[in-house]
Amino acid sequence: MEMDKLVSLCKRRGFLFQSSEIYGGLNGFWDYGPLGVELKRNIKEAWWRDMVAGHNELIISNGAPSEHQMVGIDCSIIMHPQVWKCSGHYDLFHDFMVDCKESKKRYRHDQVRGRWVIAKGQTVFIATQSGGDEGLKETEQKALKFFNLRAKSVEELVWEGPLVSLITVTDFEKVLAPDSKTLGTFTTPREFNLMFKTIIGALGGEENATFLRPETAQGIFVNFKNVVDSSRVKLPFGIAQIGKSFRNEITPRNFTFRSREFEQMEIEFFCHPSESPQWYKYWRDRRYKWYIDLGLSSSKLQLRDHHAEELSHYSCGTADIEYAFPFLPPGEFGELEGIAHRGDFDLKSHMEGKLVREGNDLVVEKTEDGKPKHRGSGKDLTYFNDQTRERFTPHVIEPSAGADRGTLAFLCEAYHEEQIDGEIRVVLKFNPRIAPVKAAIFPLVNKDGMPEKAQALYGDLKKEFAVFYDDGGAIGRRYRRQDEIGTPVCITIDGQTLLDDSVTWRDRDSLQQKRIPIQTVREELRNLLQNA
Ligand code: GAP
Repeated sequence: MEMDKLVSLCKRRGFLFQSSEIYGGLNGFWDYGPLGVELKRNIKEAWWRDMVAGHNELIISNGAPSEHQMVGIDCSIIMHPQVWKCSGHYDLFHDFMVDCKESKKRYRHDQVRGRWVIAKGQTVFIATQSGGDEGLKETEQKALKFFNLRAKSVEELVWEGPLVSLITVTDFEKVLAPDSKTLGTFTTPREFNLMFKTIIGALGGEENATFLRPETAQGIFVNFKNVVDSSRVKLPFGIAQIGKSFRNEITPRNFTFRSREFEQMEIEFFCHPSESPQWYKYWRDRRYKWYIDLGLSSSKLQLRDHHAEELSHYSCGTADIEYAFPFLPPGEFGELEGIAHRGDFDLKSHMEGKLVREGNDLVVEKTEDGKPKHRGSGKDLTYFNDQTRERFTPHVIEPSAGADRGTLAFLCEAYHEEQIDGEIRVVLKFNPRIAPVKAAIFPLVNKDGMPEKAQALYGDLKKEFAVFYDDGGAIGRRYRRQDEIGTPVCITIDGQTLLDDSVTWRDRDSLQQKRIPIQTVREELRNLLQNA
């Protein structure tokens, strides 16, 4: 599937618009239109229902059956600045960037790639932002231009190895930046903290500076005690949250994939340290299955365990659920969700002060004069098991998903073009649970009492489902319009309806039509959604 076709459908049919478009747009920010907001809301509701309401599966842990509880929370976006100091975001949440002195463009150091080439006695690193075949093609074109060679002299270019990251390059004087014509225009890499800073209060100065949250997770950790004390949950249990997060990404791109404002769906699952490996495996598998059940194909989805060197400073194990987004080179996958075993890093940091790894231990990071670098709250965030009389700091498993990346993956997966009667049918094959519109109601013609009957059915279904009424144009065109937005069912009121109260039920994917009594439409729709 070509990505630009999906992007144009999203704009044309009201799924996604560029933010502030009439002012030229704002890079890294997106608005969801009337259909997009329904789609994303359905995905978030499916997550909440499946993870929070339908949570208490019986699983076997330590040989004994165990249930787990799930509760929700909705925390503020702006929190006490100390939260970000103890979580590690203040010191560690940064990317490295490089600036091009010629094009004035800024790049993420690890996202620039390139190839070494020798020609006319000179060795140059030709940089690009593309990967795969596109990257190879681009670097070849740039090299021909740079060495002033014609296409037929392409064999004069001697390539030294494949596309590699700019991180592997030490001599920037030999680098031709992606949008530059001369060598050596990149600055040396500089650190850039990704948190958006803001000042609290009208008279606030630097001492009142804080940040828009870069993840929803920390709100859950700092409320751990409040939830335990107020809802009487017992370990093991999870706290779930859906909400906006903000990251000042250096190079937002690939539609909504990397944005500066996005929504996360996060669970912090608290358990006894001895049970944490089992719960880690449980969440890793359960979250992968969730995407498959909602329609992503297993051939495009992978569960990838991080190598030891990829793990965050606190993590004892992390797996990513990744999707083969069509904008990535063949064989490459993009992260949809991370499932991390965070140990007791977060709760301990918020008690004692920011932790760092020392050998196999986590210890409070100290300044040169031996004081904690970032002081914790000093509050007790341990858990007391009143049956075993044991007090301990729970371990945490964190399934952390992006609602916008999920929405984008479901859109990419759903997009199909089919040849029908010499025409191309564009159809979004969403799972009915997440489809923005569940059914469309049509009167075959605008006379003979058909509109009245169709409107009565529409009014009735509207109380329970997201339905759409359309009486404009030929029936075939009305079907196509609904296919293009992924409506699973079209229901037509025709001449036969006036005789026997039956309607035509047309299925989006099979294109099969059947007649059913008008009184059973509501039940059929319920079944369709329940069995999806
Ligand atoms: N609390 C852990 C955490 O935030 P993360 O891997 O940084 O982990 C989790 O983020 C998920 O949030 C990602 O898998 C992705 O789906 C989403 N996400 C992260 N940065 C994003 C961005 N700039 N734009 C859109 N989604 C993003």
